[in-house]
Amino acid sequence: MNSKRIGFAVAAAAMFGFSGAAYAECTTDIAKDDLTDAQVVELYECIKSELREGYTAQGDERATAYQSWGAAFTVPGGIGNHGSRFLTTFVNDTGYLEYVRFKDEGAKMPVGTVIAKESFNVNKKGKVKKGPLFFMEKVAAGEADEYGNWVYSALHVKGKVMKLKQSFCHNCHGNYEDQDALGYPEEDYRITVFSN
Ligand code: HEC
Repeated sequence: MNSKRIGFAVAAAAMFGFSGAAYAECTTDIAKDDLTDAQVVELYECIKSELREGYTAQGDERATAYQSWGAAFTVPGGIGNHGSRFLTTFVNDTGYLEYVRFKDEGAKMPVGTVIAKESFNVNKKGKVKKGPLFFMEKVAAGEADEYGNWVYSALHVKGKVMKLKQSFCHNCHGNYEDQDALGYPEEDYRITVFSN
């Protein structure tokens, strides 16, 4: 039995489920909007392995692959952008160095770039809830032209492919025209790779 304090009075109890896989219950008694960055990071660390176990449960290769890609964020943020969830951002080698320039003009991601975004939430009772894993993949001109050559997809928390409409995702992402349809993490939560 492990326990971890997050904030003042937070319990994160880990037990073993039927499969023998670790199951952690991550909770906090601090209201979501009052969580400090450090507390958000702790909640993320608490839920991370369970989150990832769920995403890979149906054998999706990208759900395993993204775990070794570069992180473009520091603290999970973005509440309000994807259904008021906390978000992380990982980019594969093809696109990482271009992504972390966070260009607000003339951004153009290389073909083959794949971006993954984990999500989680904290409910009113202070329990951390898992959210979907979102993907964007940059394809060659001629494919998905009406969506900026991006293919959008997502996995449910247990790894099942989510049915979605490309237009639903792109109607919002397409607003970031000068950023090649990328929303980017909030400025305070972007990783610093280039200083200019
Ligand atoms: C209402 C607007 C909106 C909708 C709809 C939306 N997104 Fe996003 N998305 C954003 C914003 C804003 C960000 C940046 C958020 C952050 O990281 O803080 C983002 C980030 C992302 C990222 C990380 C790459 C980036 O843009 O920096 C992926 C991947 C992603 N979204 C996938 C999807 C998928 C798949 C869908 C459809 C199921 C979708 N999004 C629908 C607004 C939206």
